[in-house]
Amino acid sequence: MTIIRPVIRGAGHYLPERCVENSEFSKTLDTNDEWIVSRSGIERRHIAAEGEYTSDLATHAAKAALENAGIAADEIDAIIVATSTPDYTFPAVATQVQARLGITRGFAFDVQAVCAGFIFALANASGLIVAQQAKRILVIGAETFSRIMDPTDRTTAVLFGDGAGAIVLEAQPGTGSNSDRGVLACDLNSDGRYRDLLYVDGGVSRTGTAGCLRMQGREVFRHAVEKLATTAEAALEKAGLTSAEVDWIVPHQANLRIIRGTAQKLGLPMERVVVTVQDHGNTSAASIPLALSVAHAQGRLKPGDLILTEAIGGGLSWGAVALRW
Ligand code: UT7
Repeated sequence: MTIIRPVIRGAGHYLPERCVENSEFSKTLDTNDEWIVSRSGIERRHIAAEGEYTSDLATHAAKAALENAGIAADEIDAIIVATSTPDYTFPAVATQVQARLGITRGFAFDVQAVCAGFIFALANASGLIVAQQAKRILVIGAETFSRIMDPTDRTTAVLFGDGAGAIVLEAQPGTGSNSDRGVLACDLNSDGRYRDLLYVDGGVSRTGTAGCLRMQGREVFRHAVEKLATTAEAALEKAGLTSAEVDWIVPHQANLRIIRGTAQKLGLPMERVVVTVQDHGNTSAASIPLALSVAHAQGRLKPGDLILTEAIGGGLSWGAVALRW
């Protein structure tokens, strides 16, 4: 039997030029490199320049992914951007990327599931491809979280960064077995009762302002370690696979201790985990496609490798995707 599989044909990323080392925060906040590294694993992060917006980051990453895939922009049927920091309340960042790429057909929209945004966008794109609504979709994670930081709050300001990653997802024939290349299974979850653990204290309807990110870090940490391993195992189980078969975990890059804890729960050594948090900080929905693109550029991901991606963020929302590269 032949079925349609959404396969990653190419990946690309973009990081703003300005790189901020941990030591810079010590000038304005009661913090230091030792605390930031030991608690989060973060050493530096990139920050968008004045006049540089989420759609700019997303467009750069999209162009890099198209080049890597070896396809032209007019071969793209749809664009999905995962972001919680859009240029405008509307229109969607995805439609601005579409225009910048010179695409005048197909459709484009944003997905907002905060740090889990790329997982939700990838699951949606996969569903659209399997339902034959599109053959090739640009799936992008792009954020300028520096714009929603409270610079006086040391518990959050040191953790987040800006960036974008993109993949080209393409319909390809598969056999229906879990040895196929492409997306094999997704597991998505949300529980709105946990809103207060991680939220932005502004918004269009409530305050008419963008607001600043607020987080109860220790509580989010507790949920993350428990929920990420559970959703990762659920995605593998839906695909009829076990963690022992995983070649690479490509996790959301929020905290090295969460990444280690999840790998440990899944019984996988850190040699099989892609880690970029030290160089990017937490880039929310951009972190997974950034990590995928970096690992791909380094030649670490081989065709046929089983990849497990997982993320959790505000909502709370969390999920995982099992796919073969
Ligand atoms: O991507 C979306 C999902 N987000 C996450 O996954 C983030 C999850 N949470 C975390 O990554 C961690 O909880 C943090 C990195 C945010 C914090 O690490 P922690 O080990 O949970 O530290 P903590 O919040 O328990 O704070 C320990 C101490 C506190 O002082 P007291 O109360 O023990 O005296 C904080 O006030 O560290 C203090 N602290 C700082 N000290 C120096 C908090 N931020 C800083 C700082 N520099 N930047």
